Amino acid sequence: MCGIVGCILKDDEDVAPILLDCISKLEYRGYDSIGIATFHDNHINVKKDKGKIEEVDNKLDLADMPGNFGIAHVRWATHGDPSKLNSHPQLDEDNTVAVVHNGIIENYLEIKEKLTLEGHVFKSDTDTEVIPHLIQKFIKEKFDLEHAVRKTIDVIEGAYAIAAISLNEPDKIVATRKDSPLIVGIGDGGYYLASDSPAILKYARDIIYPERGEIVILDKEGVVVHDEFDNVVNKDIETINWTPEMAEKEGYDHFMIKEINEQASAVRNTLTQKENIQNIIDDLEGIERICFVACGTSYHASLTGKYLIESLAGIPTDVVLASEFKYSANTLNDKTLVIFISQSGETADSLKALDVANQTSKTLGIVNVAGSSITRRAQYVIQTQAGPEIGVAATKTYLSQLTAIYLFAALISNNAELLKELDNVPDFIDESLENVDLIEDLSRRYNFARDFFYLGRGYSYPTALEGALKLKEITYIHGEGYAAGELKHGPLALIDEGIPVVVIIPPGDNYRKTMSNLEEVKSRGANVLAIGAANDESLKAKADDVIPINENVKEIIAPLIYIVPLQLIAYYITLEKGHDPDKPKNLAKCVTVE
Ligand code: AGP
Repeated sequence: MCGIVGCILKDDEDVAPILLDCISKLEYRGYDSIGIATFHDNHINVKKDKGKIEEVDNKLDLADMPGNFGIAHVRWATHGDPSKLNSHPQLDEDNTVAVVHNGIIENYLEIKEKLTLEGHVFKSDTDTEVIPHLIQKFIKEKFDLEHAVRKTIDVIEGAYAIAAISLNEPDKIVATRKDSPLIVGIGDGGYYLASDSPAILKYARDIIYPERGEIVILDKEGVVVHDEFDNVVNKDIETINWTPEMAEKEGYDHFMIKEINEQASAVRNTLTQKENIQNIIDDLEGIERICFVACGTSYHASLTGKYLIESLAGIPTDVVLASEFKYSANTLNDKTLVIFISQSGETADSLKALDVANQTSKTLGIVNVAGSSITRRAQYVIQTQAGPEIGVAATKTYLSQLTAIYLFAALISNNAELLKELDNVPDFIDESLENVDLIEDLSRRYNFARDFFYLGRGYSYPTALEGALKLKEITYIHGEGYAAGELKHGPLALIDEGIPVVVIIPPGDNYRKTMSNLEEVKSRGANVLAIGAANDESLKAKADDVIPINENVKEIIAPLIYIVPLQLIAYYITLEKGHDPDKPKNLAKCVTVE
């Protein structure tokens, strides 16, 4: 998704190198174009083009722009191809107003038509271009930049975080947001705006979180926030405890492999949330039903939650994709707890669902990014402690979400045995990482496959889905996760000679039935790659390859450990295929559009 940055420095240093540094930290969000605008000598300088930051920088020398304040953008195309013209900043036709925008303006066509009739000439195919035109129109009607932005947001509909600069008001950046993320950083050397904290961690860790409809004005003297009635809002300043180093590769080739290796500590740190979770449970009286709402990997963590809560606590639990949630809204009441699982806390589908759930039910967010919209809008919050996750493929945040869900399930069902078991998980995770040489070898053998199947039963079924998602999103190989018992109801027809089938088969209640399913695919020619207990000799005899996991890992905690080799398989196959695992094509880390 698009990322925006803004900065105004207190002294007269050039801001472009800082803008470039900050916007580079948002590469992980997924993008196709980059642009910067700075203000200098009564002129707005703009450099922008499609392509990776490095390529565009080599061509245009992005850091070489005069001016001590400006805005920058990475674009993830929604309206109009990736191109120089469609890149942001977008300007009005006289180049007097420059705007960067994250989100979608839903009524841009009708605004464009109206402004065209008034004589405005548009150059791009973007929805965003109407914003600088509207701001310029209101400035011409004698509004100052702040009020021109205010008038503009009265006209536009959709989701947005916007930052604007104008020739009429030097030394000022005006920003606002609705349903797209925006934070404000207060640093020693200046004031910052960004879509996400990793962009500005190096420069500012004291953060203000603007709410929907608030207008933020940055100048050399500081930051002022106004509400919709022009009143000054006294915003809390919160200090982020993430460090700039946490958002660096620190010697690893990719963020994804760094983050896979950080999983044991992500789990260990999230286990510290036990007391907070107990307090939330104590406060939740009379809950008769739980409903998880999430997308993607967070949805798979939620599915594991259903298995745990229903089997341990006997509370009926549903799991709904956030984008489909509104169709379930009629079933909610004040005895329902709706749990939102999200790494970013900014996923548009989840936020929309949260607004719906807040009207009738108790809501709990399990979120990794502090201060994000879900943490501000949910009634209860559990903060997962994974630290910043930069790779687009969720890994350590998945395990920290699972940890929070396991704690919740164990505490709500008073299951002391499971709580004790959880303490062993970090060591089991580290031990599972020792399979890396074997997995590298398997990846060399399996990377030519066109399709993979992933099978698991019970607690291992969501693991199969998540393993398949990891494969799809970074290797671009088709992978399907199935409940092992479901295969014979149709997909078995797809099993041919040599097709890789990954079977997740920990020791436990589901072992024998899963083994029968393994034999079904094996007898139809599949190449079986099993993840199972290290001492399971009969598995070694039946599968083509086995990735061994400590035999003391019980079935109930297997989702926290058996996913690790599946993440590694996806990572190493991606390297074999020559793709960048951190920035898969077409995908964004934080999906801020519906
Ligand atoms: C997972 O690898 C993906 N990046 C994606 O499925 C992600 O989990 C989904 O978009 C939900 O994001 P969230 O957890 O930030 O809400």
